[in-house]
Amino acid sequence: MLKKKRLDEISWENFIALSQADQPPYLVQANGRPYHVLVAQQFDRETLDNLCDLATRIRRIAKSKTGMNFLSDLLAHKRAMLYFHQPSSRTFLSFYAACQILGIGLAEVRDPSISSEQKGESMEDSVRTFSSYFDMIIMRTPIQGFVDKMAWMLSNTERPLPIINAGSGKDQHPTQALLDIYTLQRSFEKCGGLSNKHILFCGDLKRGRTVRSLSRLLTLYPDIKQTFAAPDRLQIGDDILQFLKNANVEFNVTSDFKGSIPCADAIYMTRIQDEWDTAPGESSKIEMSDYEFTGVDLGRLGRNSIIMHPLPRRHEIDTACDSDPRAVYWRQMRNGMWIRCALIATIFGRDVAINNYYTINLK
Ligand code: CP
Repeated sequence: MLKKKRLDEISWENFIALSQADQPPYLVQANGRPYHVLVAQQFDRETLDNLCDLATRIRRIAKSKTGMNFLSDLLAHKRAMLYFHQPSSRTFLSFYAACQILGIGLAEVRDPSISSEQKGESMEDSVRTFSSYFDMIIMRTPIQGFVDKMAWMLSNTERPLPIINAGSGKDQHPTQALLDIYTLQRSFEKCGGLSNKHILFCGDLKRGRTVRSLSRLLTLYPDIKQTFAAPDRLQIGDDILQFLKNANVEFNVTSDFKGSIPCADAIYMTRIQDEWDTAPGESSKIEMSDYEFTGVDLGRLGRNSIIMHPLPRRHEIDTACDSDPRAVYWRQMRNGMWIRCALIATIFGRDVAINNYYTINLK
């Protein structure tokens, strides 16, 4: 278990200067549970396993009205703020639904043009304002590092509260990585588990924060091989490859997506992230037709292999694949609600009550 260090005892400059390996102790509670959720690599394997088990228990408890009544009473005394500065359907709605399941009261700012930011208030002051009314902030922002800064800032006020990164800049989407891990675990439950699997990432890997977070988390599982298939201009960053090298993970960087399909246990498709283009139409000049999964590709895919996508998709997976049992992206999306329930319940220390309820009533 990580030994907690206090964010209010380190300056912001010293905190951001820490290596990724040295930051996690500042993000946990004294009991080892997560507090702020900023980056994928803050999770260790034990926490991941606990979260996945808890998500499954919540999912099963939620099947009955009695179970739903139990869950919705757990955090009925808490309120959460959803502060989204970028578009979102899945992350926003699954956090919304997860909070509802746990009885948490909700408010949202998705359109800063109708908040006091329109009157010139800074995002920092907005976050500080939310902390006066709520017990947790769930935040999506295009600014890399901003959620980290807000976590540090809130920990240095008289009313600290946890902040969850729901997608920041081009770098991190840690809770997407949690649901991806949960989906992989569930998918390979009956075929040897997640260890020893070959994950093939495809698409815009340079600017896709879901891939960058998941690739890091996968290093916690033994003998996983990672292949990155993309055109040169959209290939995965050197920082991720260095991370994999440091973790002794086998990886392969290629432009040959179609040739990589037969060897993959899981294919993780992503859309082109043209919202990050620096010039109009920049992405549309990149030829992407070789990086699409079509109905024909189903024939190249292993019998027990799966196709994932964080969604939303454009053309990178043909809708003809949707009804194939190996296409798990709709299930993956729903898993997001369960793992986010598990995460929030754990942050607020209600995992014990859920595990007790499950043992008494469903085991
Ligand atoms: N996967 C994901 O982050 O989707 P949204 O952008 O719809 O939240």
